[in-house]
Amino acid sequence: MSWLKYWDENNGDEAMYRKPAGDYCQRFVKLVRPAPGASLLDYGSGMGLVADGLAGIINRIELYDPSPAMREKSQTINRNNNNVKTVDSPQRIGSGFDYILINSVIQYLQPDELLDILVMLVDKLAPGGAILITDVIPGKVRRFSEIVELLKFALRNGCLLRTVKHLAGLFFSDYYTIVQVTPLVFYPVSQLETIAARAGCSLDVLPGNLYYNQLRYAAVIRKKPI
Ligand SMILES: C[S@@+](CC[C@H](N)C(=O)[O-])C[C@H]1O[C@@H](n2cnc3c(N)ncnc32)[C@H](O)[C@@H]1O
Repeated sequence: MSWLKYWDENNGDEAMYRKPAGDYCQRFVKLVRPAPGASLLDYGSGMGLVADGLAGIINRIELYDPSPAMREKSQTINRNNNNVKTVDSPQRIGSGFDYILINSVIQYLQPDELLDILVMLVDKLAPGGAILITDVIPGKVRRFSEIVELLKFALRNGCLLRTVKHLAGLFFSDYYTIVQVTPLVFYPVSQLETIAARAGCSLDVLPGNLYYNQLRYAAVIRKKPI
């Protein structure tokens, strides 16, 4: 089974992912302070919870995820957000975005695939726009430590029971079989910097991850002036 198939079949746990997505939106707004009229693309958007959280303050949002089940779910979740559009192929993605988010996705991409995606996305930025790559795994992390990060978040946010249930479900899912066959891809900062440079961009590491897991990092990528 591939990661894409895994996510296509694991698109249902909306209650579990709502709090982390809401937390991500708060950090995003605090960091970026989006101007009225801003536009945003969420690439690898999953069930579209970040769009649902930002729809009230971002003027135009597009979502793309290669999983048909995720796209269907994101359309349902965003059915009342008239400024949110889910597209079904990278060719249908619009342009002129102030922000492009790629959260918790690149661990499923090999470096060549990531470079191709960045080259495609950089062309979709508005002048002065930025790509935020977040939840990047810098290197080998102990699984136990990542679970502790999630439990700490759950404790702080009053969703411990739901999170423990989620972790139990994960234990009996295909997750740990797939991770043996197709390991998550690590991106140390220097490697991501090299890939960004090959796409004609500069990269700056942010002071913290925008997603709950502070063992991972976030970076902002901007087109270098010609
Ligand atoms: C951990 S989820 C993150 C979803 C969302 N970004 C969020 O923050 O909730 C990973 C997502 O990456 C998507 N994905 C997997 N392979 C991908 C690829 N090659 N290109 C873009 N997205 C991909 C999956 O379908 C899944 O929705």
